[in-house]
Order: sequence, then structure tokens, then C-alpha cells
Amino acid sequence: MGLCRLQVANRQFFMTLPNEESRIPPGPEGPVALGVDPETLGALLELRRDYGNMVSIVKPNGRKAWFINDAAEVRKLLTRRHHRYNKGPGFERVKMLLGNGLIVSDDDVWRRSRRMIQPAFTRQNVHRLISLMVTCSETRAVAWEAVARDGGTLDITQEMNDFALELILRCIFGPDYETHIAASGENPFAFLSKDSERNLRIVMQVRQTRDLIMAVIEDRRTRDKHEAFDFLSMYMSATDKTGTYYSDEELLDELITLIVAGYETSAGTLNWSWFLLAQHKDAESELLAEAARLMPDGQGVDQETLTKMTWCQQLLEETLRLYPPVWLFTRRAIEEDDLTDYDVSADTDIFLSPYILHRTESYWPDPERFDPSRFGPGSPYKKGERPYFPFSLGPRRCLGEYFSFLEMKVHLGLLIQKFRMTLVSDPQPTLDLGINLRTQSNIILRPELYN
Ligand code: HEM
Repeated sequence: MGLCRLQVANRQFFMTLPNEESRIPPGPEGPVALGVDPETLGALLELRRDYGNMVSIVKPNGRKAWFINDAAEVRKLLTRRHHRYNKGPGFERVKMLLGNGLIVSDDDVWRRSRRMIQPAFTRQNVHRLISLMVTCSETRAVAWEAVARDGGTLDITQEMNDFALELILRCIFGPDYETHIAASGENPFAFLSKDSERNLRIVMQVRQTRDLIMAVIEDRRTRDKHEAFDFLSMYMSATDKTGTYYSDEELLDELITLIVAGYETSAGTLNWSWFLLAQHKDAESELLAEAARLMPDGQGVDQETLTKMTWCQQLLEETLRLYPPVWLFTRRAIEEDDLTDYDVSADTDIFLSPYILHRTESYWPDPERFDPSRFGPGSPYKKGERPYFPFSLGPRRCLGEYFSFLEMKVHLGLLIQKFRMTLVSDPQPTLDLGINLRTQSNIILRPELYN
């Protein structure tokens, strides 16, 4: 079957021609195994080398799949054509963890939930969480100061996991973080930041945290739900267009999704930022100068200051170019489509990799070089046209993008003024390419106090 495009009075129509040969991109004849795992990066790089930016393969189970590394087609698929695709095979494992929360759901379930949740992420709301970002950063500063005075080292990977997890939990549970989560001494969500495996054991532990979250919800229900300003109260007050609230099950899925989505990716980006800063002393000095000018000694941290931190923004964007936490996206075609001159048949799996696209030389000259000035005012790309999608694009774009930039700017802006970092661990860490892009062993830095 092939798709035929007809142009009638400035509108395009597609009709299926049953006897016409399908036009599919080049690709190998034998089967290729693709998944969300380390082997897949090597396989995709080989496919690109041998066949170019649009490749078709057959998986060992006989299913058709394409790898797309053409920036314009990626953009088209994620934006104008998004309705022809579902999230795809990469999300099947994540579903065990996140139930049917926003990241994994599709169609009407996703649409309803996205409309309900989106208002919680307005800039105005996120600005109200800046003071928590400051508090969590200052807690780290106190602990790091003691380490620096002892001449010790920091496991920065673990530190960033703990920082980002504590922040998102405080933003979700507000005052209940102290009474229900921190009160028991051991953070019941700590296993998330300590164990990168997404296996059955983790799934069981997540189930247990659902009981804890449900207890907080029930407690809230006995109180005025507007008493606290936090994601929990916003999610509990959210209604769909028929005026219906989330069911308990839906609410739990969305809160677990928010915890996992809200800490892992920011933690990973901060981890890589510190790693890069420790090795690029010019970048470290530039960031220090900007932070000291805009928020001297941690004073005056607000949305205006954070907007002015343009060099920090560039540093983070370059970090996300080199190390996009979500390094691989999958989709599955739910209807026929056409991309460049090729026909996508329904049920085809699609693989897109920000990691590969962001390091493709035709889009990013000298792609392996760390250079935050790529994102500066002289950038050759117009903002909306960069071959760049660490937060995805289109209607399924990350909801926490603004939140994460503020959290990362607050953290780096405050801590860079106190500590100079030296890299102790391997300068070329081995990548761990699971659902998120991590390092196989943690990054270790030695902090030194400026005064
Ligand atoms: C550097 C930080 C972050 C990165 C790189 C990132 C990246 C992404 C990406 C790539 C997706 C879409 C995945 C896909 O389409 O297959 C996504 C979705 C999402 N992210 Fe983030 N994220 C970050 C931080 C956050 C934070 C801090 C939050 C919450 C506070 C958050 C909440 C979400 C949610 C709720 C979705 C699902 C959106 C939907 O499907 O409608 N993210 N994120």
C-alpha cells in the first residue's frame, strides 16, 4: 500500500493506493534489535553511517521500525504530525512504574490529563516555588562546606539526585513534606535516587509509596485544600471539562509521574553541568562572574534575576545538547503518514535520538566540543528552528521545562559562588544508556571554598 498526495484548491488530501509499492527508506536486510538500552546507541550510529538520516529496519520480532535523524522530519513528526503517533515501545517498561500518568498515556486519557495539569505549570506558579529552590540549594551548601573544610570529596551524582528529589517532593507536598515524608527520618522515596535500575523491586517499592501518598491525600481532604500552595493542592483541585476531579488511582499515577519526571532529568543535567564546569575553567569563571553580579552572596534571587542569567542558560542548553537526559524517544505510528519522500505504515515503530541529532556534524559543527556560546546571541539558528529537542517538541513537550531551568539556575548560581570544583573521577566516564542518560559510575568532585 502507498500514500498518494493530492493537491486540491490549496488543500492536501491523502489517499491509499493498494497496489502501489510503498516507498520506504534504505536499511539493512537482516533484523536489527532496538530497545532503550546501551546497545541501541551503537546500532543507531551504525545505521546512520551506513544508510543516512532516514533508515528502515525490521526488528527480530518482525515489526517494522524506522530511525529518523533528519531534524526537519523529527520536528514535523513531533509537532504537526504528532496525532498520527503514540508513545511507542520505549514506554512499555516505564508503564510498570508510572501507571497511566501523563508521560506514558496516550489519546484521550493524555489529552484530558494534560489540560487538567497544565495550569499548575504557569510561570506565575513556578515563581512561587523559587524560595524552595533556594532552601534546597542552601542545605547542600552547608553540607558541602563541611566536606570542603575537611578536604573531602563529593559524590556529585548522588548529591544532585538527592537535591532534585528533595526539591520536587517539597514542591509537591509543601508543608506535608516535613510532617509526612521527612518525619520518619529515612526519606521513603530515597530508593528512587539511589537505584538507577527500573526493575521489579523498584516497582514494588513504588507501590509502597503509593500508600504513603494516599495517606497524605486523605489527610489533605480533611483540611482546606487551598491552605497550601503546592503541586498536590493544584492536582487535587484540577478538574476536566465536565468538572470531574481525578480519581484516587489517576491522582496517584500523576503524582508518581511528577516525582520521577521532576527529579531524574534535572538531577542528571546538573550532574553533567558540574562535571563540565570542573573541566572548563573559563566556563566556571564566566558563570561565577554572572552569579556574583546578579545574586551576590545569594541575595536577590527572583524571577527577574534568573531571567537575566543568560550565560547560565547557555551553559545549561549546551549541557543538554551534549547530554540530553532523555537520549532516545520512541513512537508508534497509529495511522499512515509520509515523511520526506517515504511512506510510514501504521504500526511502524519510530526511534529518534536527541543524543545523536545533537552530535550530528551537519547540524552542529565540531559537535563533541563543549561550547556554551553556540546558544548565544550570535547563534545561526532561530530559536524555534534549532535541530535541538532535549525537552521534546509539540504538544507532548515537557511540562517542567521552565521549572527545571529555574531550579538549575538557582542551584548553580548559589553554589558556584562558594565552591571551586576539581574533577576526581574519570574525565571520560562510560555512559549508561537506560531510560535516562547517566554515567556508569558516579562523578566525584573535590570542592574548595573561595573563602
Ligand atoms: C532538564 C530537565 C528535564 C528534561 C531534559 C526533560 C525532558 C522531557 C522530555 C524529553 C519529555 C517528553 C518525552 C517524550 O515525548 O517522549 C518530558 C515530558 C515531561 N516532563 Fe520533563 N524534563 C525535564 C524536567 C522536568 C521537570 C522538572 C518536570 C516536572 C516538574 C517534568 C515533567 C514532565 C512531564 C509531566 C512530562 C509529560 C508531558 C506530556 O506527555 O504531556 N520534566 N520531559
